[in-house]
Amino acid sequence: MTDYQERRGRALAGFLDGVAVIPASSTCARNSDTDYEFRQNSDFFYLTGFDEPDAVLLLAPGHTEHRVVLFLRDRNRAEEIWTGRRLGVERAAAHLGVDCAHSLEELDTLLPEYFSGAHTLWYELGGDAEMDRRVVNALATARYKARRRGTAPGAIAQPSSVLHRLREIKSAEEIATLRRAAALTARGHIAGMRATRPGLFEYEIEAAIEYEYRRGGAQREAYESIVAGGDNATVLHYSTNRQRLIDGTLLLVDSACELDYYATDVTRTWPVNGRFTGEERAIYEIVLAAQAAAIAQVQPGKPQKAFHQAAVRTITEGLLDLKLLEGSVDENIERELYRDYYMHGTGHWLGLDVHDVGNYRDVQDESVLLRPGMVTTVEPGIYIHRDSESDERFKGIGVRIEDDLLVTESGHENLTAATPKKISELESIVGSGVGAAIP
Ligand code: GLY
Ligand code: MN
Ligand code: MN
Repeated sequence: MTDYQERRGRALAGFLDGVAVIPASSTCARNSDTDYEFRQNSDFFYLTGFDEPDAVLLLAPGHTEHRVVLFLRDRNRAEEIWTGRRLGVERAAAHLGVDCAHSLEELDTLLPEYFSGAHTLWYELGGDAEMDRRVVNALATARYKARRRGTAPGAIAQPSSVLHRLREIKSAEEIATLRRAAALTARGHIAGMRATRPGLFEYEIEAAIEYEYRRGGAQREAYESIVAGGDNATVLHYSTNRQRLIDGTLLLVDSACELDYYATDVTRTWPVNGRFTGEERAIYEIVLAAQAAAIAQVQPGKPQKAFHQAAVRTITEGLLDLKLLEGSVDENIERELYRDYYMHGTGHWLGLDVHDVGNYRDVQDESVLLRPGMVTTVEPGIYIHRDSESDERFKGIGVRIEDDLLVTESGHENLTAATPKKISELESIVGSGVGAAIP
């Protein structure tokens, strides 16, 4: 049994009284004859491993023969010459292990038949207006027919409430892919560190990093790389990456590859000229200590919010030591005064999506407890804006350090530990290999 079949088995159990419709992504036009790069919908990929556009997976646990049905594009010689090979209906069942495959052309006719007898339609409304229209029309047809004979779904529910519970715990295969992705991301960051020197442009470092991802087989970046020199690092989602690197400043790089559909998410901050100034070092050490304190809280059974709280406490203490905050630690935390310098959360789930699915709070609105197989980022930072009311010496400094943590039975595994972050390591690597290949 493949991983995908095993996942479909668990999904079928979750959709027990109904029928689930999970559409693939479609292509998206960029301009004239050019599309944006296609990337499959993560839920659809999780259940099929199939990366063609315009398909629909139907899971019908109550059906006697067709519990797993795929609608997909027909083969078309003329179109395949332009846009690539298609699996096609005839080969789909054997290739993907589904019970039955149909042409996408038959979707509108067959959906009402598959809906018949189900109590709940599991379909995520609001994703794609055209697919919503087709599914709702099919539901209306099924309900109309049910007036005379049989039954049709009376309720519509969110399949994510089943699928995302499955996706939040990673299997051994998923963890193996994440480890491979993390290794490539480390190579990219090391290449970026080695290439860095004053006078280069941010995009040159971006290119050195992303070259390593692609050279190692990554299909794409997991998100747009942030390569932020100097005070660009204080803009949290900076990604224009067009400025020149200035001697005596820091470079914040938040960049990671996506490999075989699994995302990594890593941030490192290093000095453009290979030497931290006193102020940069002071801020960096606080963030590094905050990250260590947070990572220590990544343990099974701990609440998810515990690692954010640990990071906030260490950052607040550090900012008080530097006199960037005043008063007591508890008062600064209670009144959230640290948010002038640390205004984002400390982590998010990671997996097929960089901000992966999974709840942060349970039904009682309490922080969820960490469980083995969950993967989270841990990414504290300090950002001192030029226009803040701060000590001049620290203005323009932005530091974030981000790793990807797997919760294990006994604690955690830092999947991205191979990306250097100690000050001594950074100072020896940065600028050491301008143009040289990574061994
Ligand atoms: N790179 C996106 C994030 O750190 O959340
Ligand atoms: Mn992140
Ligand atoms: Mn990031």
